[in-house]
Amino acid sequence: MSTELKIAERVRRILPSASVAALEQVLRLKAEGRDIIGLTVGEPDCDTPDHVIEAAAAAARAGVTHYTPVTGMPALKRAVVAKLARENGITTTEDQVVIATGAKQIIFTALSATVDNGDEVIVPAPYWVSYPDMVRFHGAEPVIVECPAAQGFKLTPAQLEAAITPRTRWLILNSPNNPTGAVYTEAEHRALIAVLRKHPHVWLMTDEIYEHFVYTGVSAVSPAALDDEIASRCLTVNGVSKAYAMTGWRIGFAVGARPLMAQIAKIISQVTSCPPSVSQAAALAALEGDQSFVHDLTAEYRARRDLMIDGLNAARGITCAAPEGAFYVYADVSGLIGKTDLDGKTLSSDLDVAAYFLQAAGISTIAGTSYGLSPYLRCSFATSADQIAKACGRIAEACDNLA
Ligand SMILES: Cc1ncc(COP(=O)(O)O)c(C=O)c1O
Repeated sequence: MSTELKIAERVRRILPSASVAALEQVLRLKAEGRDIIGLTVGEPDCDTPDHVIEAAAAAARAGVTHYTPVTGMPALKRAVVAKLARENGITTTEDQVVIATGAKQIIFTALSATVDNGDEVIVPAPYWVSYPDMVRFHGAEPVIVECPAAQGFKLTPAQLEAAITPRTRWLILNSPNNPTGAVYTEAEHRALIAVLRKHPHVWLMTDEIYEHFVYTGVSAVSPAALDDEIASRCLTVNGVSKAYAMTGWRIGFAVGARPLMAQIAKIISQVTSCPPSVSQAAALAALEGDQSFVHDLTAEYRARRDLMIDGLNAARGITCAAPEGAFYVYADVSGLIGKTDLDGKTLSSDLDVAAYFLQAAGISTIAGTSYGLSPYLRCSFATSADQIAKACGRIAEACDNLA
């Protein structure tokens, strides 16, 4: 018998996360001594606030080091219920809340709980890299709907209507969006809800992980707060990773219908047993403590966004509109396609442009191919103003060197 590892068919359907792969590449090149500026970062560039770390340390010393209930500690669930009422206008109870090991685990387990082979999940593009692969992993088909810049990278009601079939299980909406920063207004949400109301078999998964990073002066809206009928088939996903610079603590949370949350809990009980106890104590401190950290970070990111927009728009062949939220610029590089570099190589896709900037300018970005809409580059401004200015300067010079 062969000792060759047999890889499961479901795993062969997916690729490693493009953003994780990009980060690993930056680390590898830096370790080799290359001067690389990474614009691939998918997390705040600052550390977790002190009061959160102190709360975690105190909890660890006080013995909060054991398994907790599968769906999280009651105190943290109460804090999530209060947060949802305070910030999102969602009225709920603890039995509809699940705390998990990152928002990622919630999205994954929600799909595990609900989709079968042959089901369809509507994923507007540009999308967060993980949605389509998570859908494919479960044997379902991601129905990718391209949302071009001309419509603000947002799904229109007509597109939604056209994408729904009897096999549709979910629409996944992500606002503020990774990678475009698009933020759906209340009116836009209501228009999509009007379509969903006609199709009761379609559930809505709304990923609100970037909710605090909005630069338009209008807060991000939770669809579950707008319509009771939709709320009854909506999974609102969020977490502390981005807002409180807590990506490594791995705490996400969600609110949804009891039967769905029960199935998610069943899966988690078999996979991770519960989210990390000390991290839950940290998340509790983040949600209940002083919120100035989030506001200060948002103000800082607004300034960095403007710096990056100006810098990239100054580069010949690149255009970008100011993102309304999140911390990414989705830069249009169609003006560079067809140009040739100093070695005579023609740039024929955004993957080529990303590779050129890495090789010629030491700037790491992620090609739009990974997000389902090309030719674009995702550039993160969750890095220092100095680095942003330097990166934009190098990109502009690299653009000038193309013929
Ligand atoms: C849109 C989106 N959703 C979810 C996540 C994952 O969040 P968490 O760290 O809570 O798993 C990310 C992380 O990059 C993201 O960009």
